[in-house]
Amino acid sequence: MKRIYLDYNATTPVAPSIIESMQPFFSQHFGNPSSAHSMGRACSEAIEDARMYVGSMLGVDREEIIFTSGGTESNNLAIVGVMTAGGPPGDGHLITTTFEHPAVSAPASFLERMGYEVSYVCCDASGVVQPESIEAAIRSDTRLVSIMHANNEIGTIQPVRKISEICQQHGILLHTDAAQSAGKIPTMVDELGVDLLTIAGHKLYAPKGIGALYVREGVSIEPVVHGAGHEGGIRPGTENVPYIVALGQACKMAAKSAETHRDRLSSLRDRLADEISSGVGQQLIINGQTAPRLPNTLSVVFPNVDANEMLLRIPELCASTGAACHSDDGNYSTTLKSIGLSADQAKGTVRLSVGWYTNEEEIERASSLLIDAWENSQDS
Ligand SMILES: Cc1ncc(COP(=O)(O)O)c(C=O)c1O
Repeated sequence: MKRIYLDYNATTPVAPSIIESMQPFFSQHFGNPSSAHSMGRACSEAIEDARMYVGSMLGVDREEIIFTSGGTESNNLAIVGVMTAGGPPGDGHLITTTFEHPAVSAPASFLERMGYEVSYVCCDASGVVQPESIEAAIRSDTRLVSIMHANNEIGTIQPVRKISEICQQHGILLHTDAAQSAGKIPTMVDELGVDLLTIAGHKLYAPKGIGALYVREGVSIEPVVHGAGHEGGIRPGTENVPYIVALGQACKMAAKSAETHRDRLSSLRDRLADEISSGVGQQLIINGQTAPRLPNTLSVVFPNVDANEMLLRIPELCASTGAACHSDDGNYSTTLKSIGLSADQAKGTVRLSVGWYTNEEEIERASSLLIDAWENSQDS
């Protein structure tokens, strides 16, 4: 069975040229980058090249990039690392939102258990947080604001620049989780105005298990893992050289070609939306439709259906449902809840995300499979 993969927000395949770039670092250049000999130096130089590529995609100095194991670790390091740096334990206030990925909301809950105070700001029905709501949550002891750049489920892009202006006025640090936006839309740090920014390799055609955190020069951060002096002592542990090389290549490719992909992806996404809308009719809701959105993301609410069951009937199609959704106990996606969807609407939500290797034919086939499955579910 030929599968149609429309789940690029979950993960991307590793691009062939990226696989090629990392391969020599498994066997030929296997040295420890901390070793002073030539085998070690070949690896430390490759790491520094990769750091430069990541830095240049973000428009920052390479010294401000720390390699991590992925988006989750970068977010933990940014949030826990900033909140615990300096001051006594439990001292300080964090502001974040109600629709973050668990890689942000879980470290925020951890900090609450450690005695820190956290405010959770909601978005409007279009899936965008209002900068004024962030400003209203600021207190004299607020140390950090963490807000995602683009939402993983519905793709809405947050007004990070405006929020950064507010944070600067109040002398508060700003972190953004750019795991979903890096490589899809511009993520130049100076345009966003952030102090910390998270990247996840497997969302931009590099392997899983590699990521990076941008930390503006001068920002104090406490390591979350303790060990030797790698990555400026902030992220100790012998570096994952092949994966770091891969992330560097991915950022180099993204910096060069993201703009070209953007138009193609948004037209594939819009076509998918049009086809599904014409099959389902006016009852179909497109989440975040009125807000600026990632070019590749389409989140739709199919009426009167359990999307999990519907997708199970289309094994050919790889897509996501509206995240963990146990409607009976009200425990469903915090993003869908934040935009005001009911449990039943969340249950009917499907996230379709296109990517570099998606083609028109797949869009056509996927829409007709979805429409057929939805129509059949209405008969049964
Ligand atoms: C917005 C966002 N942040 C963080 C992560 C976690 O990244 P990783 O899987 O690399 O730990 C993801 C992955 O789904 C994500 O979508």
